[in-house]
Amino acid sequence: MQVSKNTKLIIGNWKENPENLEIAEQLLEITKNFSEKISEKFFLAHAVPNIFVGFLMQKNSENSQNIILQNISCFEGGSHTGEISAMQAKNLGIKASIVGHSETRLSPQNPRGDEDTQVNLKIKNLFAQEMSVILCVGEFIRSDDSNKKDDYKKYIATQLQNCLQGFNEKDFEKLVIAYEPIWAIGKDAKRAATNEEIVETISFIKSTTHPRGSLVKVLYGGSVDENNAKEILNLENVDGILVGRASSDPEKWQKLLQNIS
Ligand code: PGA
Repeated sequence: MQVSKNTKLIIGNWKENPENLEIAEQLLEITKNFSEKISEKFFLAHAVPNIFVGFLMQKNSENSQNIILQNISCFEGGSHTGEISAMQAKNLGIKASIVGHSETRLSPQNPRGDEDTQVNLKIKNLFAQEMSVILCVGEFIRSDDSNKKDDYKKYIATQLQNCLQGFNEKDFEKLVIAYEPIWAIGKDAKRAATNEEIVETISFIKSTTHPRGSLVKVLYGGSVDENNAKEILNLENVDGILVGRASSDPEKWQKLLQNIS
């Protein structure tokens, strides 16, 4: 994923959607039409379900950079049923994967999910294949209690420290971080984070990531849709958006792209 400094990233995380390949192709067609109109301003990618990857890569060979993975194995290869290795992805021409999304992390809903140690291994495997990483971090709750107001910062700082342990400055060129507050994600979320919350947290992530943190692109994700995408993209320090639900609904995706252009 080669993008210049001022290019904003727009990543659609399809999750377990859409329900068939026809809609998947329709979504890619919308992106293609839009990409032809914008030049350096935005870079668009879709994190697609693994079952669609081969077909969509073949159909879109000239835009295959637009297709990335939602997750990757923490193993390098071998006897691990259901897993996909970074090497396999690289050999298919895939340039990047999301890792550490809250829906793939250990939680009461996902008792087999990843801890930071596994996320760290996944990043290591991706960097070893010279692939890019979109690392998701974000807190469960943001407290109004003045004594606990900054607890989310400690939570995010620990995630960053654990997940990014052992990497060097060169590796960071292939790193993108997505700030995804868990309370703002998905259909049960009450709202997206406010502009102030987004700017404050993204600045915090950049300042704590690394001496080179200011060079790492940081995206916002959580209830981004066709109505708020433009405003969020224009916020100071925000290098892009990670869009869930609105990215796999052709009507919403089309509107979102129209509204930001
Ligand atoms: P959402 O999901 O846009 O549906 O809230 C965002 C994400 O999980 O990446």
